[in-house]
Amino acid sequence: MDDTEGVILENRPVCGNYYQCRIKLTKPMGRVAPGQFVMVKVPSSEIFLRRPFSIYESGKQGITILYRAVGKGTSTLACASRRERVMLLGPLGHGFKVQPGYTPVLVAGGIGVAGLHLLWKQLKSRAAMFYGCSTKEEVSLLGEIAGWKPNISTLDGSVGFAGNVIELLSRHLERIDGPPHIYACGPEPMYASLKLLLAETRIPCQVLVEERMACGLGLCFGCVKKTIDENEPYKRACIEGPVFDLWQLSL
Ligand SMILES: Cc1cc2nc3c(=O)[nH]c(=O)nc-3n(C[C@H](O)[C@H](O)[C@H](O)COP(=O)(O)OP(=O)(O)OC[C@H]3O[C@@H](n4cnc5c(N)ncnc54)[C@H](O)[C@@H]3O)c2cc1C
Ligand code: FES
Repeated sequence: MDDTEGVILENRPVCGNYYQCRIKLTKPMGRVAPGQFVMVKVPSSEIFLRRPFSIYESGKQGITILYRAVGKGTSTLACASRRERVMLLGPLGHGFKVQPGYTPVLVAGGIGVAGLHLLWKQLKSRAAMFYGCSTKEEVSLLGEIAGWKPNISTLDGSVGFAGNVIELLSRHLERIDGPPHIYACGPEPMYASLKLLLAETRIPCQVLVEERMACGLGLCFGCVKKTIDENEPYKRACIEGPVFDLWQLSL
């Protein structure tokens, strides 16, 4: 893992305050596992700390991130134009580990789709896929993958199931062929609901946590998650994660 210079090829709005940024790198990033992330130095001298983003797409030429403008860093990034230079550290962290012998079930909430996109591409039609967002506009965050037939929920009921993605999942879970293994990316309340839903069956489940991060390198301990490990309860999302076993987390 190195600090790599990149040039923005495209930084386009997808819908609402969501953007997709394609970055050409001066040297290849190497093998990227689904769920790994990069720390991006936003092109502004006022923003010192890098921001973490899941690697949405990765290739020989560079990477793509999909992000939501929520604060100073992401809003500044949203204003960055083509040909601007950015520095990226990555790929970082431990990504999803596909478990053979199970039917993969992918569950994304909102911008969580960014953390699962590479896994979806890898698994294609082998996976059952559930995506929940607020409105029909946000369905465009899914992008296009051939043969991909996601089950969709919207909070306002404008597309698919009316409700949240865990309610949607609960209606399909028993009908999934083969023993399921869940891979999820979304906000923490989604993981709490998932844990409740799976409490009896204890279906195996990996989740990507989007903790706030300062260094991304294991040095500041700003990103720790509490786990049930009695010997070492606090784990760093940037080093031991960002993907954790749901049943190991104290939510
Ligand atoms: C491993 C990892 C992968 C991530 N991948 C993506 C991604 O692919 N796309 C994406 O849009 N975002 C992703 N995030 C979250 C993203 O890093 C934050 O949204 C971003 O750092 C916010 O920076 P800011 O300066 O715009 O916001 P700030 O000004 O720092 O904060 C603005 C608001 O957002 C809240 N906030 C900031 N960071 C987080 C966070 N991590 N989780 C929840 N709330 C937060 C703050 O509490 C505040 O209310 C990821 C985070 C991690 C740790
Ligand atoms: S962000 Fe510094 S230790 Fe994880």
